[in-house]
Amino acid sequence: MALPKGRIFDASLSFLAGCGISLPPDTASTRKLQLDSSDGRYRFILVKAIDVPIYVEYGAADAGICGTDVLRELAPDVHQPLDLKFGRCRMVVAGRGTEDGNARPAPRIATKYPRIAEQFFRQRGKAVEVIPVSGSVELAPALGLAELIVDLVETGNTLRENGLVVVDEIMQCTARLIINRASFHTRQKEISALLDCMERRLS
Ligand code: PRP
Repeated sequence: MALPKGRIFDASLSFLAGCGISLPPDTASTRKLQLDSSDGRYRFILVKAIDVPIYVEYGAADAGICGTDVLRELAPDVHQPLDLKFGRCRMVVAGRGTEDGNARPAPRIATKYPRIAEQFFRQRGKAVEVIPVSGSVELAPALGLAELIVDLVETGNTLRENGLVVVDEIMQCTARLIINRASFHTRQKEISALLDCMERRLS
């Protein structure tokens, strides 16, 4: 199973522990990228959140935990059988709150989610120039790289501490279980057992 390093990593470990699947005690600090569960039934790989769907879609992992933000951005060809209900946050458009809507024919939008941003503004008939960045997106408006950003907000601290406010909401996000399409059939027994224990944890 591919686990996302970063924002939802700790919550993923807690969720798995609640399902009776525990990882080694040094999981949060180790530099190892493959770890076995304590009972030896599962092998986990630790990858960047944005890469989880690739490992699962190509069958390098049978399953993965992945945010709906990443799933909407990449639209991978995988099963998405379960909303795991943790990692709850919002994808928003944010800015300094002083934007002049008519200042530029196509405002610049800095984001880690170029596809979601393009789709959102296209659906509203608004021309924008999307500037892809891979982190610290909240810097962009202060430095004039972009007028607006599209990014995740959980506590709102990062926006606040960088002088930004929410301008619009795009979607609510949570963590999902994703499963490789072939594994769904070839490893049906193991995947059913995994789904059962996760569903019990969620009920
Ligand atoms: C995410 C997201 C925001 C921040 C939101 O970034 O992109 O920057 O968390 O959380 P908050 O509302 O609780 O402050 P992440 O920590 O993944 O780092 P990154 O900017 O390097 O991608």
